[in-house]
Amino acid sequence: MTTPFQPPRIVAPSILASDYGTFGSEAADAEAKGGDWLHLDVMDGHFVENISFGPGVVKALRPHTKLFFDVHLMLTRPDRYWEAFAKAGADGITVHVESEHDVGSTLEKIRAAGLKTGLALNPGTPFETMQPYLTEIDLLLIMTVVPGFGGQSFMHETLPKIEAGVAERDRLGLSYHIEVDGGIDAQTAVHAAQAGANVLVAGTTIFKAPDRAAAIRSLREA
Ligand code: DX5
Ligand code: ZN
Repeated sequence: MTTPFQPPRIVAPSILASDYGTFGSEAADAEAKGGDWLHLDVMDGHFVENISFGPGVVKALRPHTKLFFDVHLMLTRPDRYWEAFAKAGADGITVHVESEHDVGSTLEKIRAAGLKTGLALNPGTPFETMQPYLTEIDLLLIMTVVPGFGGQSFMHETLPKIEAGVAERDRLGLSYHIEVDGGIDAQTAVHAAQAGANVLVAGTTIFKAPDRAAAIRSLREA
């Protein structure tokens, strides 16, 4: 019997909620105020209703911070675009299980390029769809809102999927992170962390806070 993986708490400010006019300094500020990773939401206007930014912006942000770039691809065809984000400076790339691609093959290519691999599922998607890929990932992203926009309310009905992610990780002796994304604040972070999430993505809670360092601390300690 091996000891279950005890992942560290990681707070990942989501640049989507920052000031787009000063993206570079916003990224630097996320690091200065104590963020552990920078979460970058890429939206194609097709897989989700919103359009955010592409690899050119990720590349332009790269010199502004040393934070781990946690790139979340909300794209219909992540298999066509992940490489551009890898070249732009991504450290980890998360793709969706619902997108139109051979999930196993995309994950394998991302790993072969030397990046961390992540797999995401939407609130309406059952946990079982992740099962075939759990041994291939460094990060399991449980969406806690329907993706597309920042500032939405946390969906408590997603909590059992976090618990399932922990149970399967322990059962299989794996060591992936469990990340939650959407509607995370000091209160909902407690619920997500109790269920077993260790990477907390937060846009609004951090970037719109009067004191960003305090907001990050409140998530770290939640
Ligand atoms: C949702 C995005 C999130 C978003 C979270 O579509 O994937 O990363 O930035 O924003 P908040 O923290 O404001 O809910
Ligand atoms: Zn995201």
